[in-house]
Amino acid sequence: MTAAELAPAKINLTLHVTGQRADGYHLLDSLVVFAEVGDLITARRLRGLSLSITGPEAAGLGAGADNLVLRAARLMGARDLALTLHKALPLSSGIGGGSSDAAACLRLVARLEGTTLPSMRAALGLGADVPVCLTPRTSRMQGIGEAITPLAPLPAFWMVLANPRVEVPTPQVFRALEQRENAPMPASLPLWGDAAALFAFLADQRNDLQAAACQIAPEIGQVLTALGATPGCALARMSGSGATCFGLYASQDDAERAARELQAAHPEWWVVTTGLLAHQ
Ligand code: C5P
Repeated sequence: MTAAELAPAKINLTLHVTGQRADGYHLLDSLVVFAEVGDLITARRLRGLSLSITGPEAAGLGAGADNLVLRAARLMGARDLALTLHKALPLSSGIGGGSSDAAACLRLVARLEGTTLPSMRAALGLGADVPVCLTPRTSRMQGIGEAITPLAPLPAFWMVLANPRVEVPTPQVFRALEQRENAPMPASLPLWGDAAALFAFLADQRNDLQAAACQIAPEIGQVLTALGATPGCALARMSGSGATCFGLYASQDDAERAARELQAAHPEWWVVTTGLLAHQ
């Protein structure tokens, strides 16, 4: 018996930093979507709990007890499972690789053992992005990451994800913020009829971590400029605390052409085209 679960890339289409709590964590307001690309976790029943890591992005990721996938498995009380993580998403890159892996492991164990998913609070203990990844669907994320509001699916569009291969530590980006009390998104989000209406809304919103991340890693600015200059790109923005940025396109052809051109011009970057993960 082998079971598998996709750990899709998490994209923050917006990421507003609206305050800071006494414990140092920041209050966020973020429109989160999930992509079709991601890591894959497989499990097979075997005595003991183990993890092996494969895939193009496996290098540099330890499979020791502190790996988020093993921590998630232990949180679910799993004991006799051989887990494999196929790592396709770059590490520490703002698209939730580790958090989505942890959440996928929680889903996988819940499915195999016939148990329920942990509470948002328990998921939050694994990382601030784990609650939103628990059920990968278009969501509004607030609080420090634990207040999740599911939203209706968005109109179809395509994304180019581009990462300049620099790792920016999340705490460093938050520490570098000059302004921690920024406006949230509108209290109630509109229903977007088509991609153009969504893009117009997004253009008025922000990622409040972007400027700080660009200060730390100027390569991010280069990625944003390059994405923004591709034909058909409606918006280029950073996801999470970076360094992965996304370009948004109404046309799949434009997105695929942009990805080909960016990859040819910057062979060292990680570049993929992806659609949105389908959900109800
Ligand atoms: O929870 P997680 O380990 O993913 O968070 C990584 C770091 O990001 C935290 O230690 C904190 O410095 C910062 N962070 C924050 N506010 C959030 C989420 C993360 O300040 N809402």
